[in-house]
Amino acid sequence: MSLPSSHADQLKQLNNRIATDEGTRKPEHYFDTYTKYIGPMRDAEINILELGVYSGASLLIWREFFPRATIVGLDVRPAPERILPALEAGELHFVQGDQSLQADLERCLGPTGGKPFDVIIDDASHVGSLSKASFGFLFPHALRDGGLYVVEDYGTGYMADFYDGAPFSRAVTEPDARQFPSHHAGMVGWMKQLIDELHGPAIMPGTPGLLPIASIEFFPSIAVVRKH
Ligand SMILES: C[S@@+](CC[C@H](N)C(=O)[O-])C[C@H]1O[C@@H](n2cnc3c(N)ncnc32)[C@H](O)[C@@H]1O
Repeated sequence: MSLPSSHADQLKQLNNRIATDEGTRKPEHYFDTYTKYIGPMRDAEINILELGVYSGASLLIWREFFPRATIVGLDVRPAPERILPALEAGELHFVQGDQSLQADLERCLGPTGGKPFDVIIDDASHVGSLSKASFGFLFPHALRDGGLYVVEDYGTGYMADFYDGAPFSRAVTEPDARQFPSHHAGMVGWMKQLIDELHGPAIMPGTPGLLPIASIEFFPSIAVVRKH
């Protein structure tokens, strides 16, 4: 008889079994982050949105791990064949659309009956301006209070050959410097801007448009933003 394994082990096993297309398989350590944040929600009736579907592997992983969740995926490309049976059975939901367009993002709330998501995952373009556009609408308008917004693969900003990436630059400054420039290309630059948003309400109370960010935790190439 096999011993019951931890949520992290279960997610990693699902990843190995379901994400057979090496190109998009999530790195193993992402599931340690997911275990910490969403493992405790396993048996809850939560709403999950993932931007970026590709072959459907991660949607199929979430479907097995969260038996009671409503799971929605959005992609610019049509739904992959692999998830069609789950779509027909109502076990998964798919929206074809662009992550940077508010009208397409609004359609993702259809399957939840307009209820905000508990968890939103951005694993789509990994382009800073597009991910920022999704966040700008979804975080304030489609994520519940206390909900989690996970940004995967922000490390594209360190990739010289990526659309808005740049060669890694580690800005070394004198110890008594008053300014500390850092690498700020693409997704990396946008993630660092979120630190300013986090502090905004304390520094500029009452300023319209500030995002209600309670905390941000960074791990290598994956970050988790919690809403107030
Ligand atoms: C990394 S793959 C997603 C992998 C999937 N989440 C998984 O783990 O199995 C990225 C997907 O994002 C989609 N994509 C790229 N740009 C997009 C955009 N602007 N809006 C929506 N989807 C986009 C691509 O078509 C591709 O299928």
